[in-house]
Amino acid sequence: MTAPLKIAIAGLGTVGAGTLKLLDEQAELLALRAGRRLQVTAVSARNRNLDRGVEISGFQWFDDAVEMARSAEANAVVELIGGSDGAAKAVCEAAFESGRHVVTANKALLAHHGTDLAAKAEAAGVSLTYEAAVAGGIPVIRALREGLAGNRITRLHGILNGTCNYILTTMRETGRDFDDVLAEAQQLGYAEADPTFDIEGVDAAHKLALLSSVAFGSRVDFDGVYTEGISKIAAMDIQYAEELGYRIKLLGIAEMNHEGIHQRVHPAMVPADAPIAAVEGVFNGVVTEGDFVGTTVLEGRGAGAGPTASAVAADLVDIACGRHAPTFGVPAATLSATPSLPMDRHTGPYYVRLMVIDKPGVFADIAATLRDAEISFESVLQRSREPGGVVPVVLTTHETSEAAMQRALAAIEAIEAVREPPHMIRIERG
Ligand SMILES: NC(=O)c1ccc[n+]([C@@H]2O[C@H](COP(=O)([O-])OP(=O)(O)OC[C@H]3O[C@@H](n4cnc5c(N)ncnc54)[C@H](OP(=O)(O)O)[C@@H]3O)[C@@H](O)[C@H]2O)c1
Repeated sequence: MTAPLKIAIAGLGTVGAGTLKLLDEQAELLALRAGRRLQVTAVSARNRNLDRGVEISGFQWFDDAVEMARSAEANAVVELIGGSDGAAKAVCEAAFESGRHVVTANKALLAHHGTDLAAKAEAAGVSLTYEAAVAGGIPVIRALREGLAGNRITRLHGILNGTCNYILTTMRETGRDFDDVLAEAQQLGYAEADPTFDIEGVDAAHKLALLSSVAFGSRVDFDGVYTEGISKIAAMDIQYAEELGYRIKLLGIAEMNHEGIHQRVHPAMVPADAPIAAVEGVFNGVVTEGDFVGTTVLEGRGAGAGPTASAVAADLVDIACGRHAPTFGVPAATLSATPSLPMDRHTGPYYVRLMVIDKPGVFADIAATLRDAEISFESVLQRSREPGGVVPVVLTTHETSEAAMQRALAAIEAIEAVREPPHMIRIERG
């Protein structure tokens, strides 16, 4: 058998410890599949004395992960520290400078510096891979880069954040409100103490920027991703969605047309019978559309030690076998500068919930505002009647432009009888 692939691991938290466990327990299987052993030689984290539930005494310890990436006896460095800059970025750069391959699970780092780091890896003649960074255990980067290589991808959409999907699923199943379910998710460990990156859609936007790049062969453009989270979704919207035949999901959507690429992360109503609607709880799902293959659906666990370690191991097996694909599917220098399109160029149908004073003439004012914006209704729903009180009125529209919808919403908000800013959710075909 060929000499082992020597591996240095930076970061021994959830994913780092999970990766050590997998590499140990699956050592024989991996050696068979890779044709050589995958041997961890060095590790680094902040605290050497922490019990991580895995044995690390047999590895060389480094207090400084950058120093490890430069000097450890290793062919590949696995970056599992996290963060878009700082130590994680320095570790990758040091590894490239010393001719070592890099495997990372760090979507924030690649969303901000992916194109640049891919170019540095290529210049050094090594690989930079990140299967674990997008949708955890689902091999979606490989699917796009290899399995679907014969297709032009026209669109993809996915549930890319398990925390948000858990919250939305629980809200639907229990009828409870967002804040209540978020607090429970934090207690259960499904949401961070500071959940902002997850619930405001930033984590999903990081992942979408990477998917978009590998799907369309374009430079990673995180700043071009329109991002809106789930914190304004009310239990009432979830009930109305069900009544209308939809489910609400936080979707990441990337579409390419002749003008550019739409990249957007926002809550969306999808038909209840669409494949993505069936992806529930902490699970992730990605639906791709290719010109020859048609639609492909992938579903699985998007986070956690086991699924993430599974994806890291796949990248390490590739390195051990000498399979080195360009980071985003094509050489970094050939990634296109296709522009990301602004959100006001989006078109589609919309759901709008208004809280209005129940009195004659109000609906006529709302209808006139929509008519002036050239938006036509598909349906109107007013269940409760409470003369003089505040009641919900729910509208769905036919396809219209985001720009027209935003104008109409501003005009509706100015109507005196409308008592809250309108609650708008985009409807997607799923
Ligand atoms: N958790 C998941 O399910 C998941 C899923 C997909 C992707 N990811 C990504 O995987 C990466 C790691 O996530 P995680 O959940 O494993 O994080 P984590 O549990 O917070 O672990 C981070 C590790 O990095 C170490 N570390 C921090 N600063 C360091 C430095 N300057 N030098 C060396 N080590 C340092 C920490 O050391 P100490 O332990 O000594 O404090 C800790 O072991 C992130 O990029 C994350 O986005 C995570």
